[in-house]
Amino acid sequence: MTGLANASRRFGVDIRGKHAVVTGASSGIGLEIARHLASAGASLTLVARRKDRLDALAAELTAQHGVPAATLALDLGEPGSAARLFDATEGTSTAGAGKPVDIVVNNAGFGTHGRFVDIPWSKTAEQLQLNIVTLTESCHLFGKAMSSRGGGFILNVASIGAYLPTPHYATYTAGKAYVRNFTEALSWELGDSGVVATCLCPGPTETEFMDVAGHELKAWQKKFFMSAPDCARIGLDALFARKPNTVAGWNNRAMMFGLRFLPRRAMTWLAANTMAKGSS
Ligand SMILES: NC(=O)c1ccc[n+]([C@@H]2O[C@H](COP(=O)([O-])OP(=O)(O)OC[C@H]3O[C@@H](n4cnc5c(N)ncnc54)[C@H](OP(=O)(O)O)[C@@H]3O)[C@@H](O)[C@H]2O)c1
Repeated sequence: MTGLANASRRFGVDIRGKHAVVTGASSGIGLEIARHLASAGASLTLVARRKDRLDALAAELTAQHGVPAATLALDLGEPGSAARLFDATEGTSTAGAGKPVDIVVNNAGFGTHGRFVDIPWSKTAEQLQLNIVTLTESCHLFGKAMSSRGGGFILNVASIGAYLPTPHYATYTAGKAYVRNFTEALSWELGDSGVVATCLCPGPTETEFMDVAGHELKAWQKKFFMSAPDCARIGLDALFARKPNTVAGWNNRAMMFGLRFLPRRAMTWLAANTMAKGSS
């Protein structure tokens, strides 16, 4: 058996030759999801704003795994960008388009850290557009196309922040709660159509996320971080196992389970004291 055939069996689903679109593939969890998918034989369309990074990753994936990898530089924080993404992949308006997408990973996202009223509204609006509206429209476009074909896989990346109100990440975690609820409901609705929708809730993960959010961490906090390849792998395992939702890592799962027994005010206090500016 070839290395690729072995890899394709890792997920329990043969994805060799399947076309996967991964947003936020220029860094962190998205980049590692792309690597895992390529190692299992999927062809890739890599999406983010930093084209140089996407091109470097595409070259790496093709060289290492022999899979086709295209890149698409797109600002998904702009209204209408999900339609542009669909057009450039499944649609017909762009050269190279018209190839059905079998797997879509809505991973691109960022957080705004600080007091809600102190964060410029333009930044919050961009975050809501990217993390919520673009993700939802992407599910609508690709989900409809997959549903009409009778199969496909959608992985949406939320956060353990979806499980509790988090002062200093107020809109970010509220948005991730939306992603979790939306994806679980979508998973139910699409169940009969053969389309799988899965939500991945990472805990703290070693990526550029905290730098982008402007969140400085103490050394002890960094010890609790998961590696991006591990997180990516957990998300894909859940997707191909057809789970509606997964929390990455046993420690995060235990914490999310424990939260069920806390009053919401206590949850908010706990989150405020671990995520506050200056408390890190
Ligand atoms: N790391 C964590 O601790 C953590 C925890 C829970 C959830 N998450 C979630 O995991 C997902 C991936 O984040 P990450 O941790 O891997 O962070 P990251 O390393 O900062 O990666 C974020 C990715 O999103 C892309 N992106 C950001 N804004 C974009 C835009 N406007 N248009 C297109 N692409 C955009 C970035 O690419 P460009 O900058 O090149 O556009 C990058 O590829 C996010 O949804 C995040 O909320 C992360």
